[in-house]
Amino acid sequence: MSPADPDRPDRGPAQAWDAERYAREFRFVAEYGRSLIGLLDPRPGERILDLGCGDGALTAELAAAGVAVVAVDADPSMVAMARARGLDAFVVNGHELPYEAEFDAVFSNAALHWMRDADAVIAGVARALRPGGRFVAELGGAGNVETTRRALIAALDRRGLDGAGADPWFFPTPEDYRLRLERAGFRVEAMSHFPRPSHLEHGLRPWLETFGGPFLARVPEPERAALMAEVEEACAPVLRRADGSWWADYVRLRFRAVAT
Ligand code: BEZ
Repeated sequence: MSPADPDRPDRGPAQAWDAERYAREFRFVAEYGRSLIGLLDPRPGERILDLGCGDGALTAELAAAGVAVVAVDADPSMVAMARARGLDAFVVNGHELPYEAEFDAVFSNAALHWMRDADAVIAGVARALRPGGRFVAELGGAGNVETTRRALIAALDRRGLDGAGADPWFFPTPEDYRLRLERAGFRVEAMSHFPRPSHLEHGLRPWLETFGGPFLARVPEPERAALMAEVEEACAPVLRRADGSWWADYVRLRFRAVAT
């Protein structure tokens, strides 16, 4: 994407992943996402695409349900970990899905908010599905991680850097995402937007190190610890409870849509 191209939305700063750390410290992402499999209702023999599979924890559960699952993620370390689980996983950018009418369903947990050109993603999903295919997903919705996001932006702004410009996330309202799905030919069967405070077992710092890469990358390595300390201090009154535990202010957008 060239910033000079007004017709193509900015796809955002890239995030680099440490798949082993993600698998070790952020198992809750898959644990919370597990109930999304119920909304997907996979049937043995179906062919399903897992879009933004991460380390493949939920992909493996889909495979265990007897479906033929293809997993894609933009990050090579995540794909390597999914492959190490014996999954059929590939490095693919979600904005450029290469599939044509070959899946019964597309599933996605906690990944779509990293793909800022939502219309390009939805168009690729629509192309990938057979007629009547389901698109079932959960992503961060409007208001997601608002306290941390604001603190990160403010910490960069204070340094004369463009905090908002470093923000890699897309957290849509249900109205916004519904409209995009309908414009792409989907019938939306269910859509919910709800808070889900999520316990950060290891505190806020590892969350910032793991998910805040595009913000942290704006400052030289030796300054990052100070920036994260500022962010922790700004977030503590909202995210740290009296017992010292940290809870991220996650807000989810969950939907099931059918290709018409
Ligand atoms: C989320 O799952 O909502 C999320 C995770 C990391 C960064 C931003 C959002």
